[in-house]
Amino acid sequence: MTTGDARGVETLRWRDGALELVDQRLLPARIEFVACNSAADVARAIREMVVRGAPAIGCAAAYGVALDARRLGHADTASFQAAMALAFDTLAASRPTAVNLFWALARMRSLADRHADLESAVLARILLLEAHEILAEDVRINRAMGAHGAALLADGARVLTHCNAGALATGGHGTALGIIRSAVEAGKSIRVIADETRPFLQGARLTAWEMVQENIPVTLITDNMAGFLMSRGEVDAVIVGTDRVAANGDVANKIGTYMVAVLARRHAIPFYVACPLSTIDLTIPDGSSIPIEERAASEVTGFRDCQWAAHGVEVRNPSFDVTPAELVTALVTERGIIHRPDARSIRAVVEASRTRPGP
Ligand code: MRU
Repeated sequence: MTTGDARGVETLRWRDGALELVDQRLLPARIEFVACNSAADVARAIREMVVRGAPAIGCAAAYGVALDARRLGHADTASFQAAMALAFDTLAASRPTAVNLFWALARMRSLADRHADLESAVLARILLLEAHEILAEDVRINRAMGAHGAALLADGARVLTHCNAGALATGGHGTALGIIRSAVEAGKSIRVIADETRPFLQGARLTAWEMVQENIPVTLITDNMAGFLMSRGEVDAVIVGTDRVAANGDVANKIGTYMVAVLARRHAIPFYVACPLSTIDLTIPDGSSIPIEERAASEVTGFRDCQWAAHGVEVRNPSFDVTPAELVTALVTERGIIHRPDARSIRAVVEASRTRPGP
């Protein structure tokens, strides 16, 4: 099973009984794959940012479950169940903010529970098929979101994006970049403005690279340039992805997104969020309860082997922030667009999706 539309590069692929992940820490300098043979391998890859981006993390976690189920396929039922419980816990502890991780694990767990009476080897095959389906479904969802979202962009639009919500953050096509790709496929001329995205540089390293690969015009800026460009009338729309949307429409995404949303409102620029329904967490009433990951100080004091900040300086490194729903012009989902999202409109779309087959 392989996917990915980043013209040649696959974010995740299943090869010879292993999950291979393109090592996103090395992009764009080198394209190398990391092979994962167990849930623990996948959890480490998620924690260390080999794979990142909410939907891609969810897909990888599903494969992590499948990998341990295959390894343990010969075990008796009690040992199998105990080891699988550990696999779920290990994967759940890898990163806290992206709800897609927990969504994928819940889906795998509910399948495992439904078939708990089957032989371990048979259940292992069923779980692998489910991981393949989660990956394939992610691409279908992104394409559906792309089709809805493309209609929001005018021909000639200059679209600012933050972080990387592209093919590399998903099974393929991307969420925010998927909307841009779909608009380009529909014949529109779109120029992307990519925020560098301090401190991990997903915009400079990943978004800019994806766009350059496909000849979609892209201009890279540092994060602190967005306001200036907006004040000069050089941005027509903002599109970002998200790691978790609370029941009231508050949006958690890469640190710096909130700043962009405030600026967009100041300059009357629409602020769109590409949001697969698996990213909506109805159990969380508002953004204040979304767990925000704090990452290593070394991401802020330097990059790779180069440290530029004073040794011993105190550092904060919250990896995500929360944009209040009132700043969101629309959520673009695979089921259509939710304009001015609020608790009622979000719940209505999620509930309707439970009774109708999706993409
Ligand atoms: O820390 P990262 O790189 O995993 O953060 C990724 C983001 O914030 C993305 O914008 C988000 O996951 C949406 S990806 C379609």
